[in-house]
Amino acid sequence: KIIVLNFGGQYDQLIVRRVREMGVYAELFDCDTKIEDIDFENVAGIILTGGPQSVNDKNSLKADDRIFDLDIPILGICYGLQYINHYYEGEVETPKNGEYGKTPLFVDQKSELFQNVPQESVIWMNHRDRVNKIAEGFKKIAWTLNAPVAGIENKEKKIYAVQFHPEVVHSEYGKQMLENFVINIAKAEKTWTMEDFAKAKIAEIKEKYAGEKMICGLSGGVDSSVAATIVSKAIGDNLQCIFVDHGLLRKDEAKSVMETYKDLGLNVKMVDKSEEFLSLLKGVEEPEEKRKIIGNHFVEVFEEEAKKIGGAKYLVQGTIYPDVIESGKDKASVIKSHHNVGGLPEDMDFVGLVEPLRELFKDEVRAVGEAIGVPHDMVWRQPFPGPGLAIRVIGEITKDKLEIVRETDAILREEVENFGLKEDIWQYFTVWTPIKTVGVKGDARVYENVIAVRAVTSTDAMTVEAANLPYDLMQTLSNRMINEVAGVGRIVYDITSKPPGTIEWE
Ligand code: XMP
Repeated sequence: KIIVLNFGGQYDQLIVRRVREMGVYAELFDCDTKIEDIDFENVAGIILTGGPQSVNDKNSLKADDRIFDLDIPILGICYGLQYINHYYEGEVETPKNGEYGKTPLFVDQKSELFQNVPQESVIWMNHRDRVNKIAEGFKKIAWTLNAPVAGIENKEKKIYAVQFHPEVVHSEYGKQMLENFVINIAKAEKTWTMEDFAKAKIAEIKEKYAGEKMICGLSGGVDSSVAATIVSKAIGDNLQCIFVDHGLLRKDEAKSVMETYKDLGLNVKMVDKSEEFLSLLKGVEEPEEKRKIIGNHFVEVFEEEAKKIGGAKYLVQGTIYPDVIESGKDKASVIKSHHNVGGLPEDMDFVGLVEPLRELFKDEVRAVGEAIGVPHDMVWRQPFPGPGLAIRVIGEITKDKLEIVRETDAILREEVENFGLKEDIWQYFTVWTPIKTVGVKGDARVYENVIAVRAVTSTDAMTVEAANLPYDLMQTLSNRMINEVAGVGRIVYDITSKPPGTIEWE
């Protein structure tokens, strides 16, 4: 596998993905992770990412520099290059102008990093600082018009570094360069396939948890369904799946989801807790508070169910990699405490969590799902957040507002399907906003709420674009929602990308 040390650059995730796309497992760690905290068995190479800082700054981010003594091949990218050069006592300067965007790159084709890369190609730059004196023992292997040193190597130490971003699609031969490092230089083995992943996970759980009982909360989404199926293949009916109706589901969701689960052969039970959840959420406006309340009560319900089956010690969750990263390790970087990561109470009865998908991106989860026989429709269902419609009613939740979201959402889903766009859009839903606007219905003045339609395209929920919905579809939505759903006065379309927006409004 490949270890990626994260210095806070924009493309850290992308590096991990690119390596995995080659069939090699890659994992992201904070740059300053101590080497004792990383399992170095099977680590073929280390990649240092870009980052916003300057290595000349005293307080800039640092790695555990013992990585340089491990005799493991290293590739530095952007800040990673500057860090390596600085560590080996070269010099890095901050020129007046940076270099951003597409740039022609010239390389020394003799370097192993540039095998099968033309002498001149286009790459993506995004930097201010640059190397002005190469560290001893290193030699220059690439340059651009603005960066006299855009790549260095120390063949003996197996350390390579580039100023540009090979992981970005705009770097024409970036993929080739990364492969040269991962496969040819680091000699990582291509053992990362979703079939193998599933088999290995099932075997691991079987061995580690033989005879144990577990509870799994199913949400109807692909993550929890795939997680439950993996665990069920490992421990059979010792896994009790629970589908909680928290009163925050979409229209007719409970019924349709339960039918699919029965077909899948899961040992599943539905519990209706809608009144309990809604009463706990009464008067609560703040989204993080909603998440915590819902997350906590989910666990209480699972604990109750665990007792009923004679004490299940473990809770299975469909947590995936972006949830882990976005919930952050330290408080400062918490964007949203996804309820299946940050919102768990500390004193819960369960002795442990089983999260078989923790290392996977969404598209990988889908591939695993297909590989282990989860029905196509469930694998390709749009994601639905654990807190459900609670985070799609802005501010305080009431039954009336939920009903409006449910009905407008049902219209949206129906029309997206009519227009044949179901599998082209990552996620689409409606949001109840507390804004009231004036309108006229049947000659009378009305004063009703604005409903927002959100539809986004993405491959992993980390970055998204607003979907380019056909105008006809938008008009149909607006007509139908305003005419068919009481209390809806106006429809707006949310065109915000992520970042800076997030997918959900709360
Ligand atoms: P955001 O809004 O953070 O959403 O861009 C990214 C993805 O995560 C889903 N989401 C959640 N899922 N619990 C979940 O299980 C949550 O609290 C939560 N908040 C957002 C969201 O629907 C999108 O797919």
